[in-house]
Amino acid sequence: MKYARIAGTGSYLPKRVMENAELEQMVDTSDQWIRERTGIERRHIADDSETTCDLAEAAARNAIEMADVSVNDIDLVIVATTTADCVFPSVACLLQSRLGITNASPAFDVQAVCAGFVYALGVADSFIKAGNAKTVLVVGAETFSRILNWQDRNTCVLFGDGAGAVVLKASDGPGIHSTHLHADGRYEELLHVPEGVSRGYADMQQQAYVQMRGSEVFRMAVSKLSEVADETLKANNFDESDLDWLVPHQANLRIIKATARKLSMTMEKVVVTVQDHGNTSAASIPLALDVAVRDGRIKTGETMLLEGFGGGFTWGSALVTF
Ligand SMILES: CC(C)(COP(=O)(O)OP(=O)(O)OC[C@H]1O[C@@H](n2cnc3c(N)ncnc32)[C@H](O)[C@@H]1OP(=O)(O)O)[C@@H](O)C(=O)NCCC(=O)NCCS
Repeated sequence: MKYARIAGTGSYLPKRVMENAELEQMVDTSDQWIRERTGIERRHIADDSETTCDLAEAAARNAIEMADVSVNDIDLVIVATTTADCVFPSVACLLQSRLGITNASPAFDVQAVCAGFVYALGVADSFIKAGNAKTVLVVGAETFSRILNWQDRNTCVLFGDGAGAVVLKASDGPGIHSTHLHADGRYEELLHVPEGVSRGYADMQQQAYVQMRGSEVFRMAVSKLSEVADETLKANNFDESDLDWLVPHQANLRIIKATARKLSMTMEKVVVTVQDHGNTSAASIPLALDVAVRDGRIKTGETMLLEGFGGGFTWGSALVTF
């Protein structure tokens, strides 16, 4: 059996940085409240002409360069996103064309909001394990700023735009040891964009936007992330002390700290980018991973737990040796 090994990582952030101070001018909030409750200090925001596929392309090119593969070796493209450029084609198809991949291999999007990247990684891992792909491009990319109500202080301070990518190659050893994916659709109303193509828009003047019951989401996130971490370690006969790194979804520093505590990991072993990126949904894990690979923290042979939680609810994890 083949395993999926990460051969390259990449990321991209839009140029425009929005500091907490700018949000103080827009809604009734303060830099202090945002830092204390979330750990976020700034986030990047795509400009009007920049789409999710633009961010995905820049991140993908960085990952492909590090992996040193030719684009036509890529035999599967998966993009995790909630904020696709258009209804169809998928961002993955747009990206395949932009990158010049002409080998007619499959390309599709995965929609699991903030758990999207671990979902996409799980799908890619299954393709490689089954022998159906050898070189897979997996991207998490979002322009979440487009689905925010900039008058709602409960949500607009939390999110940002960005993209992260990995190239996976079939290998004789791990790589990805296992992925664990979950969903519970009963919680739709705690975190959702309730309008859309098929339900329609209540008011065509108004864009559909994120609505969230924050403290309930917070409690579920902490409990499910801790459960899936236990499940992952157990499935692989790993002990907490076998983990070199935790690379969590970057939603809230307090959620990250609670998860690290449950795993008895010190914060030195946790990759944290939420202060600079905010919550970039499906992009947050590959963005954090790329930052820690490129600054030399995560080294070849080290083992990390990736985990994410998002609307749906959806959540999941991956145990990966880099
Ligand atoms: C949103 C979140 C930061 C709020 O923190 P909290 O400690 O739970 O705070 P609460 O929701 O209890 O709200 C406390 C008060 O702050 C207020 N508040 C909310 N946003 C605010 C803001 N940006 N600035 C100032 N005050 C704010 C609330 O209105 C509330 O006021 P009230 O007590 O007068 O009603 C936190 O719940 C959270 O991070 N939840 C998870 C969000 C998440 O991760 N979502 C994505 C999952 S992928």
